[in-house]
Amino acid sequence: MSTIHIVGAGPGRADLLTVRAARILARADAVLYDRLVSREVLELISPAAELHDVGKAEGRQEEIQGHILDLLEDCGRRHETVVRLKGGDPMVFGRGGEEWRWLVARGWNVEVTPGLSSAISVPELAGIPVTYRGIAGGFAVVTGHRHPAACQEWAAYAHVDTLVVLMGVGRRAEIADCLIAAGRDGDTPVAFVENGSTARQRVVVTTLREAGTCEVNSPAVMVIGEVVNLRGQLIQPAHFNAAVDLTSLLQVGEAHTRQSC
Ligand SMILES: C[S@@+](CC[C@H](N)C(=O)[O-])C[C@H]1O[C@@H](n2cnc3c(N)ncnc32)[C@H](O)[C@@H]1O
Repeated sequence: MSTIHIVGAGPGRADLLTVRAARILARADAVLYDRLVSREVLELISPAAELHDVGKAEGRQEEIQGHILDLLEDCGRRHETVVRLKGGDPMVFGRGGEEWRWLVARGWNVEVTPGLSSAISVPELAGIPVTYRGIAGGFAVVTGHRHPAACQEWAAYAHVDTLVVLMGVGRRAEIADCLIAAGRDGDTPVAFVENGSTARQRVVVTTLREAGTCEVNSPAVMVIGEVVNLRGQLIQPAHFNAAVDLTSLLQVGEAHTRQSC
């Protein structure tokens, strides 16, 4: 019987993939992958495998999700090792849990392989630990895709030491306003880390009050909390300036830029 593997691809760099994920990709017969899976990771897939780019276009999510489930079953009928490859960890805002449940309900043999979630690894690679003794005793990871009317929902997160927002770039101004309205200090440091772990990594540091005015592009992780200031002690100041190769420092080889706004 065939096995459908739900696999996390990590934040981008291929050497941040788990060993188990790399082994599964090397023997895959078919792979369905998402938009955020990097080219570097795709290159580890067996050259004989059937590849399906099932990245979701804006506004067509439900239609494409139905197509993905049909395609998974189709591949499962024809192949022994089928991989559903998702950026980061498959169970963090990736519909991994929904696909897993749907497949099990239909009798498929499913195995899961976690990946490094961008929620923790992307801030970390930018010099921002999400917890730090005496500064942040906890953190929360939330989606920025919330209904605009639901400003009060952000109140529940306003006082979490470190708040990590995924998919929040488009609504950064609204998120910041809602958190401030719920009592978070407007001077709280904020970082946006774009394209974390890749050669295009870019870090923008600002405050909650100014977060809506910064130029930021997706994909980015938004980090809100005092831990953002640790970056200054964890990454040498010289490396904050444009186009510094941090290969020796962080082993990520990206060009870092720091922009305040
Ligand atoms: C649909 S969510 C998937 C999250 C993924 N499952 C994970 O665990 O990282 C996509 C969001 O993750 C964040 N993201 C994923 N990879 C990223 C990266 N390399 N750099 C910055 N943000 C990233 C962005 O906030 C993006 O909008």
